[in-house]
Amino acid sequence: MTYILRLLTTATLALSFVTASQAAEFRLGLITPPPHIWTKAAEKFGAELAEASAGQHSVSVFPARQLGNEAEMLQQLQTGALDMAFMTVAEVSNRAPEFGAFYAPYLAQDIAHAGRILRSETASDMLQDLPGQVGVVGVGYGMAGLRQIVSRGDIKTAADLEGLKLRITPFTPILDFYNAVGAAPTPMPLPAVYDALANGQVDAIDMDAELIWLLKYYEHADTIVQSNHMMFPMVGLVSARTWTNLSDDDRTMISELMAKNVDSTIDSYVAKEAGWLSEVEGTGKTYLRVDSSFFGDAINEWNAIWSQKTSSLDALRATAAATK
Ligand code: BEZ
Repeated sequence: MTYILRLLTTATLALSFVTASQAAEFRLGLITPPPHIWTKAAEKFGAELAEASAGQHSVSVFPARQLGNEAEMLQQLQTGALDMAFMTVAEVSNRAPEFGAFYAPYLAQDIAHAGRILRSETASDMLQDLPGQVGVVGVGYGMAGLRQIVSRGDIKTAADLEGLKLRITPFTPILDFYNAVGAAPTPMPLPAVYDALANGQVDAIDMDAELIWLLKYYEHADTIVQSNHMMFPMVGLVSARTWTNLSDDDRTMISELMAKNVDSTIDSYVAKEAGWLSEVEGTGKTYLRVDSSFFGDAINEWNAIWSQKTSSLDALRATAAATK
């Protein structure tokens, strides 16, 4: 059975009654700025839903944290104040630690492999507990490429990261990683990053290729470390309260269209990431390509911590091995 079909049956049972189709104006929030691939995918989802429902349904997209940060949006999804979100799996992992397994350093050997892992049945199965655990329905995954490091100072070895105030997205797996590296991880939401790097509030940032290039983070850096150390998945969410009030037909239409559009972001990053990185390299900044050996024992430390925190790690590793 496909994930969408399983979603429709299990979530319908979990969330009880089915109602007749009613016209609805949905609100969808996300933290990425208007030109970002996730925001474009959200707008396309809205347009496709309006078309497929013959104008019965519409989606107002609120980008750039207009409705609050991700923790606040997740709360709004839980209460039904917000209908939908394209959200970092990072934020979801703050409520459902199982999802921390996606951040196992070097789980994916490259970006295309990350896409295959996110499209696996193992990854889909992990969404099934979200309605009961977090009060949201997860329809499918997208992503924002692999993580890199941008530093204001020179970096030659991981020892140069020790003690650096290094911006991270606020979630525990990445915090544990940089603590193991010996840096001083500094949780900071995306919109605050540019100024913090520009004015020296942080010494370095953990970031993806798209934003390093398109938001010009490299301008305030001396060294770009292309480490590809983690994937950065996204998930398309519907409030369980909103879901409860949808007819079967609307659930099918919404979940299929949303899943298709979040999934399309995977193809975008697979196609574009190498180009962004070569643009960054072409700026003449010091550009360092490293692999897992750069981080020494930090990866073993992370694995030791997270094998206690999530039972999904073994299944995801098996899937990673099978999809190489
Ligand atoms: C970040 O926190 O680095 C981030 C969040 C959403 C999309 C891309 C990057």
